[in-house]
Amino acid sequence: MKALMISRDSLLHAEIAAQGSARMPPVQLVASRNGLRDAVERLMPEPPALVIFDASEVAPGEAELVERLSKHYPSASFILLTREAQQDLLIRAMRAGMREVLQLPLVHRAFHEAMDRIEVAAGVSHMRDGKVLAFISCKGGSGATFLSTNFGYALAALAERKVLLIDLHGQFGDATLYVSDQKPAMTLSDICAQITRMDGAFLDSCLVHVASNFGVLAAADDPNHTVDMKPEHMDTILRVARQHYDYIVLDVGRQIDAISLRALDQADAIHPVLQLALPDIRDGRRLLDIFRSLGYPTDRTRLIVNRYEKGGKLRLADLEHALGAEVVHTVPNDYISATDSVNQGIPVLQLSRSSAVARSLADLVELVTARRVSESKGLFDRLFGRSEAE
Ligand SMILES: Nc1ncnc2c1ncn2[C@@H]1O[C@H](COP(=O)(O)OP(=O)(O)O)[C@@H](O)[C@H]1O
Ligand SMILES: [Mg+2]
Repeated sequence: MKALMISRDSLLHAEIAAQGSARMPPVQLVASRNGLRDAVERLMPEPPALVIFDASEVAPGEAELVERLSKHYPSASFILLTREAQQDLLIRAMRAGMREVLQLPLVHRAFHEAMDRIEVAAGVSHMRDGKVLAFISCKGGSGATFLSTNFGYALAALAERKVLLIDLHGQFGDATLYVSDQKPAMTLSDICAQITRMDGAFLDSCLVHVASNFGVLAAADDPNHTVDMKPEHMDTILRVARQHYDYIVLDVGRQIDAISLRALDQADAIHPVLQLALPDIRDGRRLLDIFRSLGYPTDRTRLIVNRYEKGGKLRLADLEHALGAEVVHTVPNDYISATDSVNQGIPVLQLSRSSAVARSLADLVELVTARRVSESKGLFDRLFGRSEAE
């Protein structure tokens, strides 16, 4: 999108240029003007699609120029940046049809959200608006990596959605190995090191492709900490990922660090994975307490009990009572299928389609995508070669 920037502030100009060029499609600052008067006196021969207007230094007598500016560029979208609320100016801007007003200093996320709205309104992008689903292990070995990777594959295969899995383990991430024998050429830390290149095509080129619509971004591999990974990088990665994938599945691991926390903040649902055993329940409780203290809404936390066996001493109801949260899904204990899959690095749905654990993953796909049972029965049966009557 070609943009005109109106500002005297060269730092702000550089900041917006950097943020804009990281977008897909990029926002290009093709011209700049010093202020409102300069902008209306030196009109662009080819009208810009976007005008980014820093209103923090508008002189009192200049406010009326806002209407003139918008009349000159009737088809442009406007973003107004203000340092403090200038009521007179804001009212004029609103009357002139300028809808996006952002507070300075610039909050990058707010800028990108405004750009997303503008692009959709202008028909520039067909965003997927992907959902972020996190899986987090309450205790090591609960099965978060196994479930997140295999669930990602199942979503892609059964619901035919475009899925990205991001391995957020700070160290020793192994998610790719669960579903692939390919060695990742790029990792999360490599992407952070080249964050200015981030767009849909770059992200895609960094993945291990397990299926045409399922890619995995390998965990950071940077033992010497040469890359300065920042939480803001996560914002950029998820923003681009949401535009290009229907679902972004996160394998968070047990350690929550600044990077994974930023990802969790933005997750649409968090699935703590635990087994029906006291140590898991204890750790699960700690985790849920952390989420509560972070102010995460309770309905965003969706418990999954893995390796569930009926008839044990502990019941699901005991766990729900202890955690004060509902279990949304259980995955049966299926040692042979799970171990075979993990050892061979082949998704369990591909390796043992009719196994109990594969069926449970299909149910979870149904739950998450909220497909109607009858509809998905057809889908499931088509895949598993069963007739409706069975
Ligand atoms: N439903 C299941 N039934 C049987 N074994 C399972 C099941 N889910 C996971 N496993 C096994 O548990 C092991 C640990 O799982 P993993 O996903 O690595 O745990 P985490 O990532 O939570 O530390 C895996 O090797 C896998 O074989
Ligand atoms: Mg793991």
